[in-house]
Order: sequence, then structure tokens, then C-alpha cells
Amino acid sequence: MTAQLNPRGDVAVLVPAAGAGVRLGPGRPKALRLLAGEPLLVHAVRRVATASVRSIVVAAPAAEVAEVRELLAPIAPVTVVAGGETRQDSVACALAAVPADVEIILVHDAARALVPPELVESVAAAIRAGAPAAVPVLPVVDTIKRVSAEGVVTATVDRAELRSVQTPQGFRRAVLTAAHAAGSDALTDDAGLVEQQGVPVTCVPGSEFALKVTRPFDLALAEHLLTVAPEPVAPRTLIA
Ligand code: C5P
Repeated sequence: MTAQLNPRGDVAVLVPAAGAGVRLGPGRPKALRLLAGEPLLVHAVRRVATASVRSIVVAAPAAEVAEVRELLAPIAPVTVVAGGETRQDSVACALAAVPADVEIILVHDAARALVPPELVESVAAAIRAGAPAAVPVLPVVDTIKRVSAEGVVTATVDRAELRSVQTPQGFRRAVLTAAHAAGSDALTDDAGLVEQQGVPVTCVPGSEFALKVTRPFDLALAEHLLTVAPEPVAPRTLIA
């Protein structure tokens, strides 16, 4: 059944999905790789659409825009645009297609296919509560070391002050627009651009279900998680 978005909602979700997915090995663009028989992007959009959002804009690989439109039509009413060379370009393309009166923008990687809708809601709630920017984070469990180009350990980093950062990342629209207009470096997330502008970024509890499918092992893990929590609305999964 096609999900209904919330026409009175204040949130738009941008879904960059134009990456090649080289680390997954040869094959289709990552967002179109299958997880339990359906593309990662379909899983991601289905979960995002279960949250209370007004608009979803997907940045698809330029050659696959028509295919992605067709693929997502039965899932939710989404706008599909062509992405760009870098993730940052793809987010900028999607941002340009957001309805003018939406004030809260979330950016969610298609590769985080099993994002719980409650995580989408909690990031949006942090912005609604006054944060200019918010990111979901998890504590780091491994010991982290800095290593030289020669493969020798140069330092052990205090992990108590480290966090793994996930998506969706949330922003006041003006904050994200200004950061994208000013940002020049190729960064791996949008919060990084906002940090460069000196804007504080608030952390909210993340979820292990929001893992990023990057390597073949992640695909196998996500497939297993789907058997544990097949529905978009999973048991409470947020980890402070
Ligand atoms: O490469 P990485 O895993 O960091 O990509 C994160 C997300 O950004 C993925 O969902 C990918 O499809 C998207 N992306 C994009 N346009 C690019 C590169 C990556 O939309 N040019």
C-alpha cells in the first residue's frame, strides 16, 4: 500500500541515493542493490514515510531517475531528482526541490535502509525543540588508534569522547542552505558543513538498526535484522 505523507507536516527528508557503492563490490548503484529481494532505497523510503513527514526528495543516479520514480511510486509519494558527482552535490540537488514552506530538513542516506521511523521523529523533534542541527550518534565500542601510513600505531584516542554518527541528520532549513552555499570541502556528512559555519550540532541517541550498508557483511547483517524486526515500526531501539 502507498504510504500517505503528512500534508500539514513541517519536515522534508532528502535521501541521497546516487552513489555507486564501490565497497559493496561490482553491481548496480548501491541504493538499488537488493536486501531481502527489495532495493535498499525501497526499504529506506518505506521507513522514512512511516514517520510524520511532509515531503521526501530522493537524489537518484542520473541514469536511473525514471527507474527510481517507477520503483518508489507504489511505496510513497516522493520527488525524484538526478544526484551529482559527490554526496554533497546530490544533497544540494535534492535541497533545491524541497517545497518552499518546509522549515525542517532531514538528510538520510539510502544506505541506512533499516532506519527506525522513531529515529526520524526524534531528530525532527530536536530541531523543533530549538537545535539548529542534530545528529544521531552511537558510543564507540572498539578501542580507536591513530595509525601512520606505514601501519604503525602513533596514538590511542580516548574513546569516551568519540561517537559514531548516523543519519538522518536534521537542520533548520536556513542553516543547511547557508552551509551548502558556503561549503567547499568534500565532507562525508552535512553536519560537517554546518560545523564549518560554527553552528552547534546537538547529539541525540542513535540506533543500531540505522547501520550503513557499505560492505557485503553489512548486507548480510541487515538481512538478518529484517528477520528480527520485519516491520518499519520496530521495538524501541534508540541507544544513548
Ligand atoms: O559513499 P557513502 O556510503 O558515504 O554514501 C552515503 C550516501 O550518499 C549513499 O546513500 C549514497 O547513495 C549517497 N551518495 C549520493 N551521491 C553521490 C555519492 C553518494 O547520493 N555522488
